[in-house]
Amino acid sequence: MKQILARGAESIIYKIEQWGQSYVLKWRQSKPYLLNKIDSQLRKARINRECKMLTISRTLGVRTPAVHFVDLYNHTIMMDFIEGTQFKQLAGQIPMSELVSLCHNFGQLIALLHNGNVVHGDPTTSNVIVDGNAKLWLIDFGLSEMNATLETKGVDLHLIQRVLETTHWDLQETMLEATLEGYIEVQGDSAESILSRMKEIRERGRYS
Ligand SMILES: Nc1ncnc2c1ncn2[C@@H]1O[C@H](COP(=O)(O)OP(=O)(O)OP(=O)(O)O)[C@@H](O)[C@H]1O
Ligand SMILES: [Mg+2]
Repeated sequence: MKQILARGAESIIYKIEQWGQSYVLKWRQSKPYLLNKIDSQLRKARINRECKMLTISRTLGVRTPAVHFVDLYNHTIMMDFIEGTQFKQLAGQIPMSELVSLCHNFGQLIALLHNGNVVHGDPTTSNVIVDGNAKLWLIDFGLSEMNATLETKGVDLHLIQRVLETTHWDLQETMLEATLEGYIEVQGDSAESILSRMKEIRERGRYS
């Protein structure tokens, strides 16, 4: 059985049942406006990166779906289906205390990645799944990078702030505060320079 779960700008996500379990097949579509060869290389690189970074992030203590299969030539990756709800959808439906606790945890997970010199690259609330035990899972690592720098970590935090402003504008202050608190808790002293870089990036965006 194959069912379409989501249709993104660049990929189609299928849910499949196999061996009595649910899995996700993520297929990167081609971009008609790109030359064939460039398109194929780009899709291959993103799939490769996603597979690698999902696995590396797990070693840093962040829950991510286990990857079972990757096909670089058909631009497909097969991973566990995570039973839960997108954090984006859940955020407005739960009591404030639960929201604060989830955001706090989200910040902790981003800090765990950053401590391991990994940036997520697309840390939106659509890319976080909350399972039935209120545990957070991170997905969508196609823009993730290793060898993170002060700048790329600052960008990751800046992207979080931006997504909260645009997607959760009525809850943004509470959500940002709780996320950054969790982040600082794990990151310790080095959080200060990363937070000030985040602010600097925001200012740059304002005046450019
Ligand atoms: N392993 C998974 N388990 C459960 N749901 C998933 C899983 N992977 C993806 N999804 C669902 O499908 C949606 C889209 O997946 P994903 O974020 O990986 O693709 P995308 O945003 O289209 O990616 P990209 O930006 O890399 O093209 C997610 O927001 C989530 O709701
Ligand atoms: Mg996504």
